[in-house]
Amino acid sequence: MFDGPKKDTEKTFYLETFGCQMNVHDSEKVVGTLVQEGYRQVATVEQADLVLYNTCSIRDKAEQKVFNRLADYKKYKKQGKTFGVLGCVAQQEGEKIFERAPYVSLVCGSASYRNLPNMLVQIQAGGQRVTGLDDRETDECFETEFTARTNPHRGYITIIEGCDKFCAYCVVPYTRGKERSRTSESVLAEARQMADLGYTEIQLLGQNVNSYKDPEGKPGPNRGAKKTFAELLAAVGEIPGIRRVRFTTSHPRDFGRDIVEAIDAVPTLCDHVHLPVQSGSTRVLNAMQRLYTREQYLERIAWMKAAKREISITTDVIVGFPCETEADFVATLDLLDEVGYDAVFAFKYSPRPNTPSLAMEDAIPDEEKARRLEVLMARQREIQTTRYKKYIGTTCEVMVEGRNEARGQWIGRTTHNKTLNFIATAAPKLGGYGSVRITGAFPNSLLGELVI
Ligand code: 5AD
Ligand code: SF4
Repeated sequence: MFDGPKKDTEKTFYLETFGCQMNVHDSEKVVGTLVQEGYRQVATVEQADLVLYNTCSIRDKAEQKVFNRLADYKKYKKQGKTFGVLGCVAQQEGEKIFERAPYVSLVCGSASYRNLPNMLVQIQAGGQRVTGLDDRETDECFETEFTARTNPHRGYITIIEGCDKFCAYCVVPYTRGKERSRTSESVLAEARQMADLGYTEIQLLGQNVNSYKDPEGKPGPNRGAKKTFAELLAAVGEIPGIRRVRFTTSHPRDFGRDIVEAIDAVPTLCDHVHLPVQSGSTRVLNAMQRLYTREQYLERIAWMKAAKREISITTDVIVGFPCETEADFVATLDLLDEVGYDAVFAFKYSPRPNTPSLAMEDAIPDEEKARRLEVLMARQREIQTTRYKKYIGTTCEVMVEGRNEARGQWIGRTTHNKTLNFIATAAPKLGGYGSVRITGAFPNSLLGELVI
């Protein structure tokens, strides 16, 4: 896709993506849309006429990265390059970006990507400050016609956009707009199309997939019955050719038992659930407006632990939320022991624009946040060391994802979403599946040898 010299008449673009899987997938949609418009993707800023950053604003650090990047490239403006800021920083900062980075010509949030072709025409006609910003009013679900998926075996499908939860610390409801679900018909049509193209793994994406509400489809013979999220999950898993289905992210409040029942009933649904807890203290959860207690969260964990297959559970945690005491923090540490997570993504609380918790004093000093983060990660590392060791001697199926030449190993992923590096006497096919006997364990990965 990146190769070949640039022809004089050709329009080229460079796109760099920051942030979560939603952004990674949005970028695939942006690439698909631009390629359809006659643009060619190039690997470096130097080669590009149009330079785009798909940005993340979940924490201050992520946002600063974008502005640092923009400052670096001031010099390119002289070469006639056009700069665009897409994604969450674009939506959050809006036209203020033009003041801070005057060489930017395009500012566009994720709900407006379908209008990109039109915006690019405006820029080509000399437009200096072109915007596509959502006002949290849009009912339109972001479906572009063209998606350029980067992996030929494993692909994302967005089932729901935006978020209506308004957790006290979170910018997402402001950057990704209100919740809009796609019809199950359209999700299933895309999944079938992907299966026909040879995809075997599908990841259903949404900020909060459990809030999925199937809208009324178009009248006609294809209109199926409305589906719940668990039914949609099962239906994707039953598509011939699909061997693995994952979904992210789940919100504990809306996480129903029917999801565990679907995992029990449909073997292609992966044995992994990412269920962000954020804190183990009900007092902090209340202040975070998370809408569940520690006990309700643990009830959902109990459902998963009672499943027929062992479900691997991972989570997100925020340390140093304004009102978090040492006792609250200890409650989170205890929760890690009690649940036995296979991975924890932990973050220091970062005050964000527009969010309710911005009105609370950011009371925990940064050094204390850093200490809590370190203590938490050390505890979790011990938990993972013990948990991962249990796999030694067992055999797991992997999807082959790549090769590490330096170590002479193949890289695989288990249904539990663990990285399993392995050796093989004959080269396995990328994107294929194989059975690997596990011979070693580290806190974040497993080691083994291919048996079939
Ligand atoms: N500060 C720190 N972490 C945050 N997250 C979301 N907002 C913030 C914030 N303001 C974390 C949450 C969420 C993950 C994607 O990022 O843990 O689940
Ligand atoms: Fe943010 Fe809460 Fe929505 Fe997740 S559920 S995106 S943490 S507001």
